[in-house]
Amino acid sequence: MPADIATDIALQIRGLEKSFGRNRALAGVSFSVRRGERVAFLGPNGAGKTTLIRCLSGRTRPDSGEIWVMGQPVEQREARDVIGLVPQEIALYQDLTTRENLMVFGKLHGLSRRGVRDRVEWALNWTGLSERADDLVGGFSGGMKRRVNLACGVMHSPRILLLDEPTVGVDPQSRQRIFSMLDDLSRNGCSILLTTHHLEEAEQQCDRVVIVDRGKVVADGSINELIARSVGTSRWVRLRVDPPLKSPLTIDDGESAKPIGQTGDHQVTTRIDDVSTHLPGLIGWIREQGYAIADVEVHAPSLHHVFLHLTGHELRDA
Ligand SMILES: Nc1ncnc2c1ncn2[C@@H]1O[C@H](COP(=O)(O)OP(=O)(O)OP(=O)(O)O)[C@@H](O)[C@H]1O
Ligand SMILES: [Mg+2]
Repeated sequence: MPADIATDIALQIRGLEKSFGRNRALAGVSFSVRRGERVAFLGPNGAGKTTLIRCLSGRTRPDSGEIWVMGQPVEQREARDVIGLVPQEIALYQDLTTRENLMVFGKLHGLSRRGVRDRVEWALNWTGLSERADDLVGGFSGGMKRRVNLACGVMHSPRILLLDEPTVGVDPQSRQRIFSMLDDLSRNGCSILLTTHHLEEAEQQCDRVVIVDRGKVVADGSINELIARSVGTSRWVRLRVDPPLKSPLTIDDGESAKPIGQTGDHQVTTRIDDVSTHLPGLIGWIREQGYAIADVEVHAPSLHHVFLHLTGHELRDA
């Protein structure tokens, strides 16, 4: 294990590059995932997420760069054995039952006959599909197939799990189930790298966020760190006033007068740093100008604003 990789690092990626012809899918990607950490890996369509996951799981060979898995280079078999992959497309045998699918993947991962038997029972429980153990997977709903797909990827108890959009096309109930399944893995120390197009999912489910755009990491940190570094922590405030503004309203914060509402508008918007101290002052001041306040909305900055700020794109739901 290289001396410059800390012992609590499960996955270390350095300067990873991969091109398809003249298309640079990965243009020098570096980041790490700590043991037991959950990292959301986000980026617009075509940013390079699946390519990176394929490089990590040994399905694609990078042009250059290094991948270290639990202190071992990814090229070594032992390193790959500790990785679990749940691919973007459902990869199940539709004409086999749940139990049979789990057995096939268990054997594929090199488990002993006894190991497969124990693990299948565990997986049926874990997915909540014990009662459907002997039904053909082909007849399952999208959410149920996703759960089996996930179980097949962890039959060998990986230390690092790579999930490429595990909740696409999944109903809210199955989605909840999938996240409680992931909670279970985290509690047991498994590191999780999760690609998703749902920003609120990343916000709720992950400790840290890595955003890629055009094959490069454009942000890496906790949500609060990214907000502070990019859009800032101040709140957007929107007030509905009555009657409509007779003239433009400006607020003087001592540095520069800022416009907060246009003539003829019912709406006044501005940013404030501290809601509890600044909002009452703002409301009082607008009232003093002769307007009643009909409504107040306060918006905290979110990962959505960070993403837009850094990439200039909406994150499309694929
Ligand atoms: N096998 C391949 N052959 C040629 N080009 C490829 C191949 N795989 C990926 N690419 C290209 O590499 C770039 C990154 O693709 P990738 O699938 O990694 O993006 P992504 O971030 O996973 O996107 P999405 O959010 O749509 O899943 C894209 O421009 C894509 O067209
Ligand atoms: Mg993808």
